[in-house]
Amino acid sequence: MEVFSGGGTGKDVATDLGLTDSVHLDLLTGWDALKDDTPVQSDFVFSHPPYWDIIDYATQRGAYDPDDLSNAMPYADFIKELDIINEKIYDSLVKGGRHAFLVGDVRKKGHYYSIIKDMTWYGDLECHLIKEQFNTVSGRKSYGGTFVPIAHEHLLVFKKGEIWQVNIKYTKDFTRTMADMPHATWRDLIYSIVRGRGVTKLADLYDALAKTAKAQGNPNWQAKARQVVQDERYFERVTRGVYQVA
Ligand SMILES: C[S@@+](CC[C@H](N)C(=O)[O-])C[C@H]1O[C@@H](n2cnc3c(N)ncnc32)[C@H](O)[C@@H]1O
Repeated sequence: MEVFSGGGTGKDVATDLGLTDSVHLDLLTGWDALKDDTPVQSDFVFSHPPYWDIIDYATQRGAYDPDDLSNAMPYADFIKELDIINEKIYDSLVKGGRHAFLVGDVRKKGHYYSIIKDMTWYGDLECHLIKEQFNTVSGRKSYGGTFVPIAHEHLLVFKKGEIWQVNIKYTKDFTRTMADMPHATWRDLIYSIVRGRGVTKLADLYDALAKTAKAQGNPNWQAKARQVVQDERYFERVTRGVYQVA
């Protein structure tokens, strides 16, 4: 079974492989991955979704569809919809079946989006192949400076090892402050405080440091702070008891 079959490459590949019972599904063939049931149970699914809204398939199809994954939508909504479809695909596999999933990364307004990292993984990852991406708009441009264009796609193969148990993996975004970082050195912590505040009095540095997990575990933390701000590789004494970063 192929989901997001688009222009028919998958059908051609199936024919070349001598497969006569393959099923190819797309809005183009009247099948909606969000609303419609998977029509068959299979041992192999290939899916190649839109890379968020990078290519507008409504224009290619000549018709708008509210369930098109390439519609302009917030990234989090795109990932939610992709997760629904990936779960449906996984649920439809027979025991021992595989889902091969092809997608690229997206760079937009200076932000890098890793779709494979942000989506939920259903089943056990069997392999992760990197495919060179040909004929991209970014590949035809020449860039100055240190910009690295995206020139690859990811092919992940998930296997259904268990028929009832479902193994799921997902990542989570959250924010901490340096005060909570358990492995920061005294230099890292003090540099972060002084860099953040600019010209800093020792008393203010003590106030900020007192709240850190590291200071709470060391009775000599004030002496340690005085020792660190005297390291001229990183800090500069402005006047007595006042420092900035070097
Ligand atoms: C990356 S393209 C697939 C290209 C295909 N592998 C090929 O060789 O032509 C993504 C496809 O997803 C389809 N699509 C987007 N949202 C869909 C949905 N909700 N249900 C079914 N197909 C959808 C688009 O119509 C488009 O053809």
